[in-house]
Amino acid sequence: MRFILYLGKGGVGKTTTAAATALRSAEMGYKTLVASTDIAHSLADSLDVPIGDKPVQVAKNLWAQEISAVADAQNYWGKLQEFASGIISNEGRGLSRVVADELSAFPGMDEIVCLLHIDKQAKEGNFDRVIIDAAPTGETIRLLTMPETFSWYVSHLAKAEGGMVKALKPFAGRFLQGPAQVLEAIYKLEEGTRNLRQTLINPEQSSYRVVIMPEKMVVREAERAVSYLGLFDYPVDSVIVNRVLPASAEQGPFYNAQYELQQKYLQMINNNFAPLPIWHTPYYAHEVVGIKALSQLARDCFGEEDPGQIFYKGKVQEIIDGEDGSCTLRMPIPFVKSSDVKLRKRGDELFVTIGNFKREMILPTVLAKRKTAGGALVNGVLEVKFLPLETAS
Ligand SMILES: Nc1ncnc2c1ncn2[C@@H]1O[C@H](COP(=O)(O)OP(=O)(O)OP(=O)(O)O)[C@@H](O)[C@H]1O
Ligand SMILES: [Mg+2]
Repeated sequence: MRFILYLGKGGVGKTTTAAATALRSAEMGYKTLVASTDIAHSLADSLDVPIGDKPVQVAKNLWAQEISAVADAQNYWGKLQEFASGIISNEGRGLSRVVADELSAFPGMDEIVCLLHIDKQAKEGNFDRVIIDAAPTGETIRLLTMPETFSWYVSHLAKAEGGMVKALKPFAGRFLQGPAQVLEAIYKLEEGTRNLRQTLINPEQSSYRVVIMPEKMVVREAERAVSYLGLFDYPVDSVIVNRVLPASAEQGPFYNAQYELQQKYLQMINNNFAPLPIWHTPYYAHEVVGIKALSQLARDCFGEEDPGQIFYKGKVQEIIDGEDGSCTLRMPIPFVKSSDVKLRKRGDELFVTIGNFKREMILPTVLAKRKTAGGALVNGVLEVKFLPLETAS
């Protein structure tokens, strides 16, 4: 099964692109599910068909679903019950309401349940492809980093159980003193989440795509997102630039100015996201709603290519720890030939100039605090060295 998740800043076109991708994938004969994890759902509006909390068929080979928030206790219990029965035994009766209520207090449990829910539905429905229309960037990063955070909590909970981590006792106490099934359920959930994470970070199976518009703030946020996804090993396989103005003669000065500005950002996008494939979706004069318009958008964006394929394999950014405490940031930039690498760092921003090529990037926190110690282009890979933290000012 292929899993593709679209993320990006609010309003850039995530829902539209996810729905269009799913539709085209279904048209190409793949059994596809498009699911929204955004609490502010708009997938039904985009497809222009009513959909609900369970997958419903909306076209040939295409199912859609708006995954409801699990916040209210009733719903929560139902969701946990749904996927936990079978993995959590409670004297053969599945999960009790008391256990579910207790579990709901565990940090990040909403996100965990949401992820496991998608996984379960995807497997049960035997889908070839699952396309996720995610919430705006911050929330989605939280969702994706939760499996690791959850495992961290649980590993410390296990130690607290053995009386080792006193600092965590107040937090852990609630779970340790609850019914034994609560702990059992937490450990089982952690195991399920750990397995799911292996699927989510497997580049043969899962892809993350950032939707942007040719505008500075949007591009900046996307750079941050790509860097975070890289740190947590989530494989990004492309960038979709939405609302690209078509070149057109006989336009007024306003259009021309907007067009020129976009051209500047399109160049910057090519540089800043290399080596990722970059797709362009035109800015339409009409609203992009309904099956027909979405299908056209998918073709305008991806041409005759199958949007469900893996567009890029390999790491876009990688941080290698050196033995002396230094770090090296590695980024493939295959099309740059010059070897004269110039670096300038300002706060968490890094400006790279190699001949005519310029890249501005946002550094992950682990690197932002360090000083750079030069860069080099080695076999198409830019390597930037960062000094150990102690020597940083
Ligand atoms: N290329 C385009 N040309 C014209 N209109 C577009 C284009 N892409 C999206 N739209 C319209 O822009 C609006 C916002 O798009 P969409 O809902 O896909 O964004 P989103 O990123 O999912 O937003 P949110 O963060 O609120 O979920 C919709 O009304 C959609 O029809
Ligand atoms: Mg949306």
